[in-house]
Amino acid sequence: MSDIISVKNLVEVYSDGTKAVDDITFNVKEGEFFGFLGPNGAGKSTTIKILTTLLRKTSGTVTVAGHDISSGAPAIRKIIGVQSQETTVDGDLTGRENITLQGHFQQIEGSKIKKRVNELLQLVGLESAADKRARNFSSGMKKRLDLATALIHEPKILFLDEPTTGLDPQSRVAIWSYLEKLNKEEGTTIFLTTQYLEEADKLCKRLAIIDFGKIVASGSPDELKREIGADSIKIGLENCERDRENAKSIIKTMTGVKEIINSEECINVYAQNASSLIADIVRALDSLDIRLTSVTFSQPSLDDVFTKHTGRKIRAEQLVKAPSAMFGRRR
Ligand SMILES: Nc1ncnc2c1ncn2[C@@H]1O[C@H](COP(=O)(O)OP(=O)(O)O)[C@@H](O)[C@H]1O
Ligand SMILES: [Mg+2]
Repeated sequence: MSDIISVKNLVEVYSDGTKAVDDITFNVKEGEFFGFLGPNGAGKSTTIKILTTLLRKTSGTVTVAGHDISSGAPAIRKIIGVQSQETTVDGDLTGRENITLQGHFQQIEGSKIKKRVNELLQLVGLESAADKRARNFSSGMKKRLDLATALIHEPKILFLDEPTTGLDPQSRVAIWSYLEKLNKEEGTTIFLTTQYLEEADKLCKRLAIIDFGKIVASGSPDELKREIGADSIKIGLENCERDRENAKSIIKTMTGVKEIINSEECINVYAQNASSLIADIVRALDSLDIRLTSVTFSQPSLDDVFTKHTGRKIRAEQLVKAPSAMFGRRR
């Protein structure tokens, strides 16, 4: 399939000198569910703003559906839907009115809007709240309304900037299923940014991992995890600074060890036979009088992929817990 988004050597430097996007190159195929995974400040929103014509690039080439971003912005705007990171819901209007208003902006025929609005309310599960003012909606409902609004003109490409950040797990799962349906049944190309590993893993057929404005790895979730090629053992040391190098040099000699890197725990060991290796590691460190604070074993996750390339973890914002008031327990 052909590329529907093509980005070459894209750079964005803000007026204060911040290089938010530092020479990235990637492409998205038509009908693909593509993800940008990275921590806060990585450059995700900046990239999405450029791709959706809201921000002018510093340099590089971007084409969306065959239109150059610099000369073809009006044509691009007609075929994309955008959900920005901050919700743009109007609290004075009802759910239905919010979506309808967007329909007018998009110059959809009056006779078609009503039907389309009903479809969208159903898609995002907001039928019963449709005629309530949006200001009383929960943050999950606002995100869902925002998503419906972005879909009014049946966009060919949907851009979603952290569509589930800060949502409770239930709303998150609901949004995931709408997005999967949209991608599978309507063939909508989706470009999504997220700081959640599980979200990228579950939804995206292909993704790029972004950190400090650079793409550090890209591929399908399975390819990326397979690239690690080994299970990981995370080792915490009581005196990491002092003992790290000694520990690494002894572990390096053990059979099956593929790679050892510094990590936030202290050391990550990637090995083929990780489960059987743990006992050897514990014994060896003990004999050197190196004290352990933790040893954990796991199969590769996207977090390991991120750690392998950056030495850090992706720290996602915490899930928002449902306030007790929702259950009528507040006095
Ligand atoms: N308008 C701006 N002016 C200057 N710096 C900015 C602006 N917007 C974002 N940044 C900086 O650019 C970097 C990337 O930000 P952003 O694209 O929002 O990242 P993300 O969406 O991945 O959290 C950060 O260092 C951020 O502080
Ligand atoms: Mg952002």
